[in-house]
Amino acid sequence: MKDSAAWPFLWGVATSAFQLEGSPHADWSSWDTILSERPAVTNHYELYREDLALLQDLGVNAYRFSLEWSRIQPREDRWDEEALGHYREITEILGRYGIEPMLTLHHFTHPLWFIKRFPWHEDASVDRFLAYVRRVVSAMDGVRYWITFNEPYVLVLAGYFEGCTPPAIRSPQLGVRALANILRAHAGAYDIIHDACPNARVSVAHNMAALAPWKKWNPLDKLLSRVAKYFYNHSLLDAFLTGSLRIKFPFREEMNIPVPIRGKLDFFGINYYTRIHMRFNPLRNMGVEMRHLDIDGHGLTDLGWEIHPRGLEKVLRYAARLGVPMIITENGIATKDSQKKIRYMKEHVEAIERCRRQGMDIRGYFYWSLIDNYEWLQGLDARFGLYRVDFGTLRRIPTNAAAYYSFLIRHRSF
Ligand code: BGC
Repeated sequence: MKDSAAWPFLWGVATSAFQLEGSPHADWSSWDTILSERPAVTNHYELYREDLALLQDLGVNAYRFSLEWSRIQPREDRWDEEALGHYREITEILGRYGIEPMLTLHHFTHPLWFIKRFPWHEDASVDRFLAYVRRVVSAMDGVRYWITFNEPYVLVLAGYFEGCTPPAIRSPQLGVRALANILRAHAGAYDIIHDACPNARVSVAHNMAALAPWKKWNPLDKLLSRVAKYFYNHSLLDAFLTGSLRIKFPFREEMNIPVPIRGKLDFFGINYYTRIHMRFNPLRNMGVEMRHLDIDGHGLTDLGWEIHPRGLEKVLRYAARLGVPMIITENGIATKDSQKKIRYMKEHVEAIERCRRQGMDIRGYFYWSLIDNYEWLQGLDARFGLYRVDFGTLRRIPTNAAAYYSFLIRHRSF
């Protein structure tokens, strides 16, 4: 930890620009047909003032949101000052409300020119991204909390291993190259932000899942879940500790790739949602089959994900070895049932409470998400919001879960 200044517990909500407002210049806009029917999604780009007022109603003291890079730099040689001014205005409104902004620079989407000409496996991608970061950082002075990349591993697994999202290249080799470049880009962004603002607090938001074997007695399932746990949850932590990205897949040679990120972390952002059970299946891509099982009776979400609050404790315990404060940068549930949403939030916050009592340094919780939004490849029916969006009228409708979250924030001792 580089500064010991007061660091209040952050009670927030998290969003991403594209999921709320789309963008005509983003790779994702032409990726999912639903977006051609509804390119402005919730129309947050126009309705942002009303949406930011909801933060005040909730009583949060922090708000995590992202910049849509493709709006700011629609062409490689064109910067859109209006778009930059728009995001700048959001930080100013938050300032007036006394709400701490946490700014995400990259949340899955890219300008089309970037993904076509400089996808992440090309080394030239790093400098292109850093040019964007320089431009943004000089325009957003005063912002203290930064997330460079949202879920770098999800980005690479979906874009390069599974190939279901842009750039849709099915090549683990190129995926590993892409991951290394993304981590180099994190290192560069970390330095740029700290040069401009020495007190800044910078991290990535790392998706961590509880991973378990499908059948406990099956050695192959056990081996697979162990390998997956190391790769997906832990190898990034080791890279921050050692400066080396260790990749070890079964039956392949181990790789150790130097990445200049050692110590480039002021806190650690964790996105936690669920537990996944893993089975070795030679007929599947890379022999991996995944499923959600409702083992402990907490139920499944509308997306079929297992609700497993104990898993949050496990990943926090593991991440504590980084020795920096931890912030839960996302945690949430897709459901139309407010009671279920309330139970989910309550049980995860209780898990955090238990971890804090055990001495873990946890400094924030951000519920995903403020209002319903576009869910990647799942459309508009995954209801994560504290406020329901009526996609016919675009009205935001408070749910009991919003009232509960306000209550929780006001009555917690941390
Ligand atoms: C992502 C969000 C997404 C949420 C629910 C996280 O992995 O950061 O963009 O909407 O999970 O799937």
